[in-house]
Amino acid sequence: MKPEELEVKAAAQIAKYQAYDVRLFTCSSRGCQSADALGVITALKAEIKAKQLDARVQVSGSGCLGLCGRGPLIRMKSKTQKDVMFCDVTAALAPKIVDQVVVPVLGGTKVEQPGGELATKTLDLNDPFFALQEYVVMANNGKQDPEKLDDYIACGGYKGLRKALGMSAEDICKEILASGLRGRGGAGFPTGRKWELTRKVEGDVKYIICNGDEGDPGAFMDGSTLEGDPHAVIEGMLIGARAINATHGVFYIRAEYPLAVERIEKALRQARAAGLVGKNILDSGWNFDFELRLGAGAFVCGEETALIASIEGKRGTPRPRPPFPAVKGLFDKPSCINNVETFANVTKILQHDAAWYAARGTAESKGTKLFAMTGKSKNNGLIEVPMGMTLRTIVDLVGGGTGTDHKVKAVQTGGPSGGMIPVEQFDTPVSYEHLKALGSIMGSGGMIVIDDHDSVVDLARFYLDFCVDESCGKCAPCRIGGKQMLNLLDHFVAGKGTEEDIKTIRRIATAMQKASLCALGQTAPNPVLSALHHFEPEFRARMQAPAAKQA
Ligand SMILES: Cc1cc2nc3c(=O)[nH]c(=O)nc-3n(C[C@H](O)[C@H](O)[C@H](O)COP(=O)(O)O)c2cc1C
Ligand code: SF4
Repeated sequence: MKPEELEVKAAAQIAKYQAYDVRLFTCSSRGCQSADALGVITALKAEIKAKQLDARVQVSGSGCLGLCGRGPLIRMKSKTQKDVMFCDVTAALAPKIVDQVVVPVLGGTKVEQPGGELATKTLDLNDPFFALQEYVVMANNGKQDPEKLDDYIACGGYKGLRKALGMSAEDICKEILASGLRGRGGAGFPTGRKWELTRKVEGDVKYIICNGDEGDPGAFMDGSTLEGDPHAVIEGMLIGARAINATHGVFYIRAEYPLAVERIEKALRQARAAGLVGKNILDSGWNFDFELRLGAGAFVCGEETALIASIEGKRGTPRPRPPFPAVKGLFDKPSCINNVETFANVTKILQHDAAWYAARGTAESKGTKLFAMTGKSKNNGLIEVPMGMTLRTIVDLVGGGTGTDHKVKAVQTGGPSGGMIPVEQFDTPVSYEHLKALGSIMGSGGMIVIDDHDSVVDLARFYLDFCVDESCGKCAPCRIGGKQMLNLLDHFVAGKGTEEDIKTIRRIATAMQKASLCALGQTAPNPVLSALHHFEPEFRARMQAPAAKQA
């Protein structure tokens, strides 16, 4: 494909879509698929066909529409009125949506709040859940079928790659640095700086790797992004490849994400056929292609050196750094590893520019952040909010609080490497710097809401148990320290904790933080320490009664 053909194709596609009076986008991600979204799509298509409305109504799949706890979700777009979103849709409901909403809208009647059975299945798009979010990474969801390259191109897809092909590698790195983008995989390292470092390393073979391992309990941001906008991740990797002069691209995706794998494979086939991946990309003379490797479900394989070992066919265990992967990475060649969401952001930065991106966020954390909102929040699902929004706004307004009589007590950010933040500190803006100051981390974006009926002792034990289970066992502080700390936590769970146990937990935590080889062991004590710091009375309430101690 020649570069100018992109625009022609986009214009043709947009014209095709504009011919539809109504477009029905049903989330076809794995969450909604598990609630029969594909059955809903089939039923909608059958109904539209039976009514001979095919020329006026488009029925399409879509990336995640956000409110996963209420799926399957449909977003209806029309020329004549505001969007309408339906939740908890069943195949049986499809004919009613067509009869009571689509047909009247086609006839010129506005139906923004349908009555009857559909009233409870219609979401209020003015609700803070929708109104306060800002979609950058999720911008194409509800506008394209993730399985169609033409849809992606119509949404501005591969414009960023086209721009990158006209820039020097150094200038791409500078643009990403100026955007303020920090890696979304957890540590928040500035992406532009990482790329610049890798660019400067000489090498006839150089790898760019997408980390799609996503093993944290409660996290599903990366899986949803791979499923919902696969071309955006591929485009971001191509831009990254140009920036660091990479010769090979590798996707590492956990095998438990079969739909993400399928969509990436399909998107790569489409991109190759269109001359966007492979030989002579966009008629530039540049050749670049990808391989796909599946992770076998070990959390530690998300750690970059373990991931490299896993791709090389070795046991997935971390190794000391330096040498960093930028110098000695996959097959000992210079390599750059970035997270899925990082690459999706890169695409948007090049499609717009650095200043556009940096206009959102705080001094040290730019852009938006995806969170997988779970636990006791009313609105469980995938959210994207600007950095700097307070936890209170996110949990109480976007998340809708608990939606029950129970009160929000805390939120856990950063998964098993993060911490619990009590409700009293919810005025904190969400950013790398602010969450760190509270003893938690942004992590990759798990956000678990805890209510006043939950025990933070049990939750801390859950996370530690996860890390003990997932420890690769290579170094003693993590392998032995984690297990010992878990045994001590079990004393509290059984109501038999002691003052001495608390002291020992803190001592072991320090040893793990200081002496573990990789961040799994270094950060595993975090949930326990933050629970102890903010909720020590809960631990004390689980101590052995003094009388029992004397006995
Ligand atoms: C135990 C462990 C698990 C990790 N899992 C992931 C993961 O699933 N996805 C990810 O992108 N980064 C993960 N990381 C962080 C990666 O090592 C690495 O920092 C990241 O992929 C870099 O990408 P970024 O700069 O775009 O954030 C993990 C780190 C550790 C210590
Ligand atoms: S800290 Fe834990 S996971 Fe990391 S290398 Fe050591 S034993 Fe393995």
